[in-house]
Amino acid sequence: MYKNLLLVGVLSSFLITGVNAAPRDDIMAQFATLAKASDASFIAFDAERGKNLFSTNFGKGKPETPACTSCHSSSPTNIGETRAGKAIDPLAISKTPDRYSDPKKVEKWFRRNCKSVLGRECTPVEKGDFITYMISQ
Ligand code: HEC
Repeated sequence: MYKNLLLVGVLSSFLITGVNAAPRDDIMAQFATLAKASDASFIAFDAERGKNLFSTNFGKGKPETPACTSCHSSSPTNIGETRAGKAIDPLAISKTPDRYSDPKKVEKWFRRNCKSVLGRECTPVEKGDFITYMISQ
């Protein structure tokens, strides 16, 4: 009896804390929380909006990088290239499965790259949309 109660306790704490969830799920859950906090009408992330973010020519940051595609190539499944000519692994999960699993890495590159392209940081909705698109690719 006691043993069963213990088991139920352990199982439900797994469910509640999400200890079992993959790091990428945690990152997405965090973006969803921030998205809801900043926009009451937010419902869900959208791969189509993420695709637009990836491929739109914004030209609002550095002149040499008007779009995400300036470095990440025209397709998320292709290898990209830095301004210095160094290869960048594809952003699509199907090609680079460990992407978007380290919160520090995700934040660092969103901050840097959104500033280079949009001239500002990306919003939580934009970040969630972008990763949703990359998961679908
Ligand atoms: C100046 C070149 C450049 C541009 C422009 C650029 N990126 Fe990147 N991006 C990089 C490099 C370099 C990395 C780090 C190397 C890697 O992850 O393979 C990276 C990594 C990332 C990552 C981290 C992925 C992970 O594995 O966690 C995200 C997210 C990202 N970029 C999003 C964007 C978005 C969104 C845009 C457009 C708004 C953009 N990038 C535009 C060069 C660029």
